[in-house]
Amino acid sequence: MSLSLSAEQPDEPADAADGVWLECIECGDTFAPFDDIRYTCDECDGLLEVRYADLPTFDDFDGHGVWRYADALPFEEGVSIQEGATPLYEVPRLEESVGVEALRIKHEGMNPTGSFKDRGMTVGVRVAKELGVGRLACASTGNTSAALAAYGSRGGMQTLVLLPAGKVAAGKIAQASLHGARILEVDGNFDACLDIVQELAAQGEAYLLNSLNPFRLEGQKTIGLEILEGFLADYDAVPDRIVLPVGNAGNTSALYKAFRELVQAGELDEDDVPKLTGVQAEGAAPMVEAIENDADEVRRWDDVETRATAIRIGNPVNAPKALPGIRETGGTAVAVSDEEITEAQRDIAGEGIGVEPASAASVAGLRKLRTEGVVDDDERVACLTTGHLLKDPDAAAAAGSEPEPVPAETQGVLEHL
Ligand code: F0G
Repeated sequence: MSLSLSAEQPDEPADAADGVWLECIECGDTFAPFDDIRYTCDECDGLLEVRYADLPTFDDFDGHGVWRYADALPFEEGVSIQEGATPLYEVPRLEESVGVEALRIKHEGMNPTGSFKDRGMTVGVRVAKELGVGRLACASTGNTSAALAAYGSRGGMQTLVLLPAGKVAAGKIAQASLHGARILEVDGNFDACLDIVQELAAQGEAYLLNSLNPFRLEGQKTIGLEILEGFLADYDAVPDRIVLPVGNAGNTSALYKAFRELVQAGELDEDDVPKLTGVQAEGAAPMVEAIENDADEVRRWDDVETRATAIRIGNPVNAPKALPGIRETGGTAVAVSDEEITEAQRDIAGEGIGVEPASAASVAGLRKLRTEGVVDDDERVACLTTGHLLKDPDAAAAAGSEPEPVPAETQGVLEHL
């Protein structure tokens, strides 16, 4: 199986360009990377992955941010706003209350537009330029649209975003709007938006930059590479487990690909690969259902609901890449309630780190799995927090304390205190 951890490095096909090609994860068909626009396999409609004739080792990485990892990417540089190089925070109180050997928070909210999506867009928009397309598009629960709008405008391109009406956090719409995206509010959920934008892309109306686009996931691999380098520097070992929120399962797929490539390059032992552990909200948990039932495929949930609007997704399109990632690394998936998510958001905030609700799902999931004994107390764990607190100011205000009205004089303030 091509997505197995022990898969051999494939031979370079004739249609490769400078050692880069696309390969179908289902039938193994290969395609030239930049001759035509395609998102899935021409033969069987399977998902595509980017392949490289040469895989880098840690010593090949040089510089700062996403493009430090250029040797693991299809280009030397991209359309950049200085993305990546996000903090890997120590959180001693949280570490103790969860009860693990080590806990670090990889805060992707510290990217230019406040989420990990920037890592995918710096590569994806570069590819769009290579292909010579005019208009970029995505469906989004908000963060992808903010990143696409920013990177599209940076690259001097038009952007079109389809959002589920009434279900996108205020900060994200504000970003897409100010960066000049044309915003279409769809009377349906995220999955319906993605169905439509895929049709538009198939009809040549726009270049699709959702995580179905294999090049976006290349940029997102760098989250995994940064976490590994950070742990190696601090603990002289890679983490035992990485816990992350799951929506379309793009990050789960991207991290798994990063680890597979390191194994193939001889840089990481198969047994040392961190256990990928996905967390979904109870009201939108089709991946958790598939893992629990040991199913080969994920059943689409038509009705999804959660306060963590970023992961309000019922049809995780990257499931065929992510399910092997979770299983082959010995990881798991778990669902948490909205209350558990809010609680975790407060806990993380108590360490001075502000994250949006979907991000807090990672810590909520870790706590739950630790309580259930699935996670051991001797594990070193990285939790991925995917978006910044200010993305969803309403959720933050609802989870936080109420402002207290006081009179405009010191005595009155003192009396109130
Ligand atoms: N966390 C945040 C803050 C997100 O915005 C998303 C996805 C995820 C987690 C899930 O990541 O899809 O790789 O499993 N947001 C997309 C969007 C869907 O449109 O912004 P995934």
